[in-house]
Amino acid sequence: AKLRSITEPLLKWYDRHHRTLPWRSPPGEPRADPYRVWLSEIMLQQTTVAAVKPKFEAFLARWPSVEALAAAQDADLMAAWAGLGYYARARNLIACARVVTAAGAFPETEEGLRALPGVGAYTAAAVAAIAFGEQATVVDANVARVAARLFAIETPLPAGMAAIREVVAEITPADRPGDFAQAMMDLGSAVCTPRAPACLACPLSAACVGYASGAPETYPTKLAK
Ligand code: ADE
Repeated sequence: AKLRSITEPLLKWYDRHHRTLPWRSPPGEPRADPYRVWLSEIMLQQTTVAAVKPKFEAFLARWPSVEALAAAQDADLMAAWAGLGYYARARNLIACARVVTAAGAFPETEEGLRALPGVGAYTAAAVAAIAFGEQATVVDANVARVAARLFAIETPLPAGMAAIREVVAEITPADRPGDFAQAMMDLGSAVCTPRAPACLACPLSAACVGYASGAPETYPTKLAK
């Protein structure tokens, strides 16, 4: 009951209000291009969606496939990466492209993806869910805030992250796990914002314990300084 009272209104909201982003497939598609999903998730680590969009388009135009990226000159890729910062990501990007190209395809499981250069726990879960439809637990900062409010998780961050991951795992559906993850991200970005959440516009307000508490913006809680 908990699962459907959350996933149904959330996915219905996503169908209408999702952000159209160049790496995404339309809602309802069970899979998305793993190259696009992987490249975007690496770029989105510590860089905003607005800054990533034009860079992503430029990369796709120049290197339309993982095989093309694997054949790039390191110096060309480093130059194209300029502005995204944190150059270890760019070095890992080309190393990963070469491993995937040598293997013939991206691994299709969270565990297999986790073994790739530069692919951490978050990225492996995101690519597994969005590109391959695996019921993986995807928690970024937006998702964590939405979940902490939905369940009024009282344990302060960072320790509270374990409880947050647990509830996100519980409500992640077997059907449309990638849309679910991106719906949580979009809800966190557009509605369940850090300081002044727009609860009257939220598809989950009826199920939200934080909303019922009257002070949803206090979640996720942090240790008093
Ligand atoms: N941030 C990280 N991954 C994202 C995605 N797939 N869509 C929007 N924002 C994101």
